[in-house]
Amino acid sequence: MTYDPTKQTREAAVVSYRHCQPSEAVAMCGIIVRAGVDDALDELVAGLENLEYRGYDSAGVAVRDDEGSITVCKREGETDALEAALEDRKLDGTLGIGHTRWSTHGAPSDENAHPHTDGANRVAVVHNGIIRNHDALRSELREAGHEFTSETDTEVVPHLVADALDDGADPETAFRRAIDRLEGSYAVAMLVGDDDAVYATRHGSPLVLGLGETANYLASDVPAFLEHTDRVVYLEDDDVVVVDGDSYRITDGDGTPVGRSVETVEWSAADARKGVYNHFMRKEIDEQPVSLRQTVEGRIEADRGVLEEFPPGSLTDVDDVVFVACGTSYHAGMYGSTLLRRRGIQATALRANEFAHDPMPLTERTLVVAVTQSGETADTLAALRAASESPAQTLAVTNVVGSSAAREADDRLFIRAGPEIGVAATKTFSSQVAALALLADRLEEDGAGSAGGEAASGRTVTADLTSLPNDVETVTNDEGAARLAAQYADAESYFFIGRGVGYPVALEGALKFKEITYEHAEGFAAGQLKHGPLALVTPATVVVAVFTGRNDDRTLHNIREAQSRGAPVVGVGPTSATAVREAVDEYLEFPDVNPNLAGMLANVHLQLLAYHAAEIRDRAIDKPRNLAKSVTVE
Ligand code: AGP
Repeated sequence: MTYDPTKQTREAAVVSYRHCQPSEAVAMCGIIVRAGVDDALDELVAGLENLEYRGYDSAGVAVRDDEGSITVCKREGETDALEAALEDRKLDGTLGIGHTRWSTHGAPSDENAHPHTDGANRVAVVHNGIIRNHDALRSELREAGHEFTSETDTEVVPHLVADALDDGADPETAFRRAIDRLEGSYAVAMLVGDDDAVYATRHGSPLVLGLGETANYLASDVPAFLEHTDRVVYLEDDDVVVVDGDSYRITDGDGTPVGRSVETVEWSAADARKGVYNHFMRKEIDEQPVSLRQTVEGRIEADRGVLEEFPPGSLTDVDDVVFVACGTSYHAGMYGSTLLRRRGIQATALRANEFAHDPMPLTERTLVVAVTQSGETADTLAALRAASESPAQTLAVTNVVGSSAAREADDRLFIRAGPEIGVAATKTFSSQVAALALLADRLEEDGAGSAGGEAASGRTVTADLTSLPNDVETVTNDEGAARLAAQYADAESYFFIGRGVGYPVALEGALKFKEITYEHAEGFAAGQLKHGPLALVTPATVVVAVFTGRNDDRTLHNIREAQSRGAPVVGVGPTSATAVREAVDEYLEFPDVNPNLAGMLANVHLQLLAYHAAEIRDRAIDKPRNLAKSVTVE
């Protein structure tokens, strides 16, 4: 594929739209575009399947044929429903756009599914994000005679483009005029019947260009087209890309050609496939020994973390660290902050959505670390942006090269976990914690740990990280969690407790459990149970207690408080913790390790417990209801 900055739009053609069904609303969604020399449909649908983790309320495609007719087909429900609708339909054409949706405004429905078209059926659009001024635009367009068929913000876009086309603008100019009117965050891709290119842009929502041998692609994320190419261009905000089957052209918001480097993605297509597994989540749990090795590979020398991104002396101007993150990544940030504090480094973890709009005082010697698997979580990006406006330094710890967080932070540290498709984050948690443990070495050596930590005494965390993947494998091979998931399937509530690094792991265990089983699950600091939650504990409450080999005697007191109310207690702890083993009703053990890392092993047991409990209940494990992998709306 060649970059051709002079390439222009081409021949006009007759347009006719045929809707196999009306359709859709807003979201964090998945976009796929495919422009090639042969029919686009199969690759579009396969791309949507690979993007379903981003949303699965509805899915749709629009394909332009050689005569310039665009056919739209869209359905409420998962991609399967769309595929069924496509079975007896013929959507020939080399150019197409597709979309899988996670609703934030408006119910999931055929009407609210993407793509959306204008009234005269000349333009088809898919969109990820939120157009905040859509009400005003809709009113203005209505007054001008436009009629709408959905409740979505997206639908204003094809109508705006159609207006500009009616005024005589060429498709690219019409597209630019339309997006110039939009406020909010968006990635948008557009087909026009009388043109054989796709027009796309991004502003705060991800969009990556894939360059294949016989086709070009655009998508919200690389797995959408990884089967076909690993050569990608990460688009910048406000880039406008015009792409057809054998060329592409990128300009900035003003129309000036810009060069963007072509990069090779290290992920393989097999990484993004389920293989022999029933669920991505189980595959990704089992991948942790490999993903952890990838995280630390080449980053440990003489039992110390050596990060290429942070050579010696690069963090001498850091006094304190603030982690901002959401969900599982927040729990990794909590874990990291505990590790840092134990090294004598002042560290705090805050929920990104709270920090973003109510930030704490920051100085130029504060390092704000945004932890985010996807690098696209809107709440975390908002926190990162708030930090960027303060004197603080910013760092993104992320799995996705080219993500918004990676691009917007002052520095970036990639966790190298490989693609994670299951909505429930698993392998990325362990890689995030490992990456933060390595970062702690640099911070300490550069002087941030002046408060006096524990690293000097005994074996370092980093030294034990090298053997951790083997220990994780021991846990993934353990069948104890499967047995206990069945044994306690009838419980009314599941409480997870822990202290130290066991506390974020307890929160993470509860999050994982509720997320995929839909059962009531809560996580608490073990010492907090007696301050309120104990009132809820009955014989129908299973208490899962995390033991790390540090302060376990205190947690033993806490479990006795629960046991005396009749609650069964499952301990999760090191093999040699005899006193714990004797005190609990059931025990999930892991190899003895540095207590700082023990939480990571306990977490794998909790991942398996949630997985098997969800399997027993026949839940949609990879695509739990109401959730999506990457939440790009605040
Ligand atoms: C966890 O299983 C969830 N998928 C969710 O809590 C997730 O960790 C959160 O939305 C943050 O995502 P990020 O790491 O991509 O920023």
